[in-house]
Amino acid sequence: MGLRILGWGSALPEKVVTNHDLQKTLDTSDEWIVERSGIRERRIGDSTAALAIEAGRAALSKSNVDPASVDVMVLATTTPDQAVPACSAHVHHELGLGGGAFDLNAACSGFVYALVMANGLLETGANRVLVVGAETLSRITDWDDRNTAVLFGDGGGALMLEREAGEGQLLGWDLGLDASAREILQCDLGGFVQMDGREVFKRAVRVLVDSAKRTLAQAKVRSEDVKLLVPHQANIRIIQAACDRLGIPEENTAIVLHKTGNTSSASIPLALVDAIDAGRLEEGDLVLMTGFGAGMTWGSALLRWQSPPEAQGASA
Ligand code: ACO
Repeated sequence: MGLRILGWGSALPEKVVTNHDLQKTLDTSDEWIVERSGIRERRIGDSTAALAIEAGRAALSKSNVDPASVDVMVLATTTPDQAVPACSAHVHHELGLGGGAFDLNAACSGFVYALVMANGLLETGANRVLVVGAETLSRITDWDDRNTAVLFGDGGGALMLEREAGEGQLLGWDLGLDASAREILQCDLGGFVQMDGREVFKRAVRVLVDSAKRTLAQAKVRSEDVKLLVPHQANIRIIQAACDRLGIPEENTAIVLHKTGNTSSASIPLALVDAIDAGRLEEGDLVLMTGFGAGMTWGSALLRWQSPPEAQGASA
């Protein structure tokens, strides 16, 4: 048994905050932010649940799936709206989902972790799993700290998955954690994100590349056969360095960070949905997702793209 993607969706808050807006209150400049990170603007606002609901609803509607027929929803987030209950409880209720739901926190690798969990659930009896990544990093960002304020944004993305007989679309995956590095990127309860940017940068390139290579080796796929790389959207220079080392041309990469900033668990689905909606994927294309985040966690997943069956019918 494996997974099949039936639908997808994304959500961004309405409020746009540009680099020019930030330079009014911070000792920074549009030029510095673009040159060091590639980010030009980010979206701020809403709650994590609201973004997850909007993205999840879009994925359900695209796939024409009855929400009550969903067996499990996995919500990847580092910024739940409340400590208890899980943010997924609110989302489950508003979407009218059946089955169970839980939050998963693996920082910016969260969406890849959630996808791998979903695949396991589908292999062991679930028929339909909704996977969502949603974040409101603006709530844990110190807007007076130029080291972090210029980098983060809010958003959400979702995939509706169904069980498929045979191998399915997930061909290989790799999840990992080096907890000895957990102090280089952290946020206390009720506090703001603190980060040693240079150290995160160095380690990020290494773990992205190693994790991507392990995933490709597991699936016996060469990097030149990857049609689309969907990396975590933290910094364009991290992505360029990773592309370079993997031998994947930069134009084969899904990029949204210039307009979203780093949206943690939401960043990979936002970039993937953007690429799908732009018609960048054809039947059989290989898609490699790879992310890293606080912990430090990392995760990669290799998918073979299959167009979803049209007009499924709202089957239960
Ligand atoms: N505007 C202007 N100057 C700045 C700013 C700013 N916003 N921020 C820092 N600077 C200054 C620094 O103070 C430093 O000044 P100094 O040389 O006088 O000390 C100078 O710019 C250079 O700083 P560096 O840290 O060396 O800059 P770097 O090129 O490394 O870029 C950045 C910084 C963008 C943070 C980069 O290191 C990075 O992207 N790191 C990875 C961050 C990341 O991916 N975080 C998310 C992880 S995922 C998650 O879990 C949330």
